[in-house]
Amino acid sequence: MKIALLGCGVVGGGVLEIIDKRCDMELKYVLVRRAKPELGDRAVNDFNIIINDKEIDTVVEAMGGLSPAYEYACAAMRAGKNFVTANKHLVAHYYKELVSLAKENGVAFRCTPAVGGGIPWLVNLERVLRCDAVSSVSGIMNGTTNYILDAMHKNGASFADVLAEAQRLGYAEADPAADIDGLDIQRKCVISANVAFGVVLGEEDVPVFGIRSIGSCDIAAAESLGRICKMLAFGKSLPGGIAAYVEPCFVKSGEPEAAVSANRNLISFETELTGKECFYGQGAGKYPTAYNAVQDCIDILSGVKSFYTDGFVPAHSDNSLEEHPYYVRFAGCDEWLEEVSERSCGEGVITKPLPVSVMHAWAKKAKEADAGLFFAGLV
Ligand code: HSE
Repeated sequence: MKIALLGCGVVGGGVLEIIDKRCDMELKYVLVRRAKPELGDRAVNDFNIIINDKEIDTVVEAMGGLSPAYEYACAAMRAGKNFVTANKHLVAHYYKELVSLAKENGVAFRCTPAVGGGIPWLVNLERVLRCDAVSSVSGIMNGTTNYILDAMHKNGASFADVLAEAQRLGYAEADPAADIDGLDIQRKCVISANVAFGVVLGEEDVPVFGIRSIGSCDIAAAESLGRICKMLAFGKSLPGGIAAYVEPCFVKSGEPEAAVSANRNLISFETELTGKECFYGQGAGKYPTAYNAVQDCIDILSGVKSFYTDGFVPAHSDNSLEEHPYYVRFAGCDEWLEEVSERSCGEGVITKPLPVSVMHAWAKKAKEADAGLFFAGLV
């Protein structure tokens, strides 16, 4: 297998190191914007060199962002090259286009590192679908926010300090807003739900509320309820349709998600035959993510051509199908919030069970009055 790597940042650098130790694949080119003397003559800055080289059968993308990653993905697959990517934004945004293009051109399109870093999540989702229908996908899909919440619970650390440390450790996205506002998780949720349910949801189908406004008083409120605050993604196939959303949750302390520390992820599916199965491990970072990109290459080498699912039914989520109580901390006066509140909890209140769609819509509007508003689902 002759590979061209696009991008040589944290993840790309890991891919390079792992491939260079193998004898079943060779990394011929590394596309870089700026010269990297250590790459020698493997470094190129013209993508056409890769496209025009018939020896290259597989392109591994570790650049991030939508453009030019999308243009490169399309050009590579049209030129008959397999495409492996760690870029969840690219896959979530252009899901249908990329999967269709791979099929039309008879090439493999794999993105295992895009969800869960080093966790074998998408490949096991693919595997369970051979035998059973998946009724839900859920869990902790972002290392940075888990690292922050864990440190806030364990050390009473401040949000800003822990975020800076997560960035230093290479967990956070280039723009950490994608982590703390939940967009990174939204993309992973879209990909997971699409694969699990054989549908095509867009990012707009998965409302998100992040942890930007969380304070130590919210952590204390969770603990007063015997719970731990975690950032969770949910995709559920329900009798009336699909619910999909991302929000901070106060999880009961005995639940597996509550015990997940540092930058680790825990992602689960549920099926009738298996019940809930959880996949746990390093959800971010250089070597775990690079490892899964190389695993995708090995799968291709051993003959894998298909995507993780064959189902691509256009769909939309309906989050009125799901409801649970919420913890809400809001500084203003709000008649609706007073009506749905059942009791106070620290500086916030606990509501009666509310449809997820209603809570997210209210919070979006209420943030205009109080940018420091925070809520968490009681699940
Ligand atoms: N910023 C992401 C995270 C990287 O923290 O999980 C892996 O997608």
